[in-house]
Amino acid sequence: MKKFAVVVAAGLALALSLPVVAEEKAATGESESLYGVPWLKKCSGCHGKDGNAKNPKRAKLAGLDKAYIVKQLQEFKAKKRIDKDMNKQAAPLSKAEMEQLANYFSNQPRKPGMADETVAELGESIYRAGNPATGVPACAACHGPAGKGNPAAKFPNLASQHATYVAKQLRWFQSGERANDAGKMMRNIAIKMNPKEIEAVSQYIQGLQP
Ligand code: HEC
Ligand code: HEC
Repeated sequence: MKKFAVVVAAGLALALSLPVVAEEKAATGESESLYGVPWLKKCSGCHGKDGNAKNPKRAKLAGLDKAYIVKQLQEFKAKKRIDKDMNKQAAPLSKAEMEQLANYFSNQPRKPGMADETVAELGESIYRAGNPATGVPACAACHGPAGKGNPAAKFPNLASQHATYVAKQLRWFQSGERANDAGKMMRNIAIKMNPKEIEAVSQYIQGLQP
């Protein structure tokens, strides 16, 4: 019995001391700043200093429209868009810090990628013409023939984005795990796509020159 009480007390002490330690260790935007941009040091660890993430699961941020980046950060913070890394990263950001970060990344040049040739034909045909038989519209209709998007209409730049990242977004729009697209624009499209089409169009997008 005595042993039991000791364990409980130790556990309690640990639980009580944790928030204090967390507070002391919590970084501020300023301490994580780079080139005068708050938090940028943190973001760089995953997305690269120039916003051209090397890991294909992490989006290239370089060349994304500023307003699109702010929208995503606000939605990660509000957990309207789910990603375990990004929900945590966006939590401490103020609106002004989001704007500074978005301004920085939107002004970085995006690096080109290459498409897997074996699926290029299907990918190109989905991107340019959709699949009339199943009602998939042409991606080009909104994201533009070169994939550059249309900032005024809030259609993001896709050109040379990592295929791994793009395919995951399409699967998540399909399942509804990503549901932050206005008017279900992307969910209504992705639900009509099959896995082969998703794979092929993602490769084609990766090969579009920035
Ligand atoms: C631990 C790694 C990690 C860190 C640190 C990180 N990110 Fe991310 N970020 C990711 C991953 C992974 C994704 C892709 C999420 C998904 O699959 O939907 C992502 C996605 C994003 C997106 C969405 C891009 C798009 O095309 O929709 C934005 C914007 C973003 N991050 C900004 C930031 C900013 C700004 C910071 C710094 C405050 C940051 N990230 C720090 C891993 C990270
Ligand atoms: C009716 C217009 C429209 C069409 C057609 C369209 N999209 Fe989109 N797409 C959007 C909008 C709007 C968003 C931004 C959602 C948001 O705000 O988070 C988006 C976002 C995306 C994203 C996420 C980008 C990122 O950086 O996270 C991908 C990937 C994507 N679309 C791929 C496609 C593909 C592939 C097609 C063709 C099969 C397509 N889209 C057709 C409107 C469209």
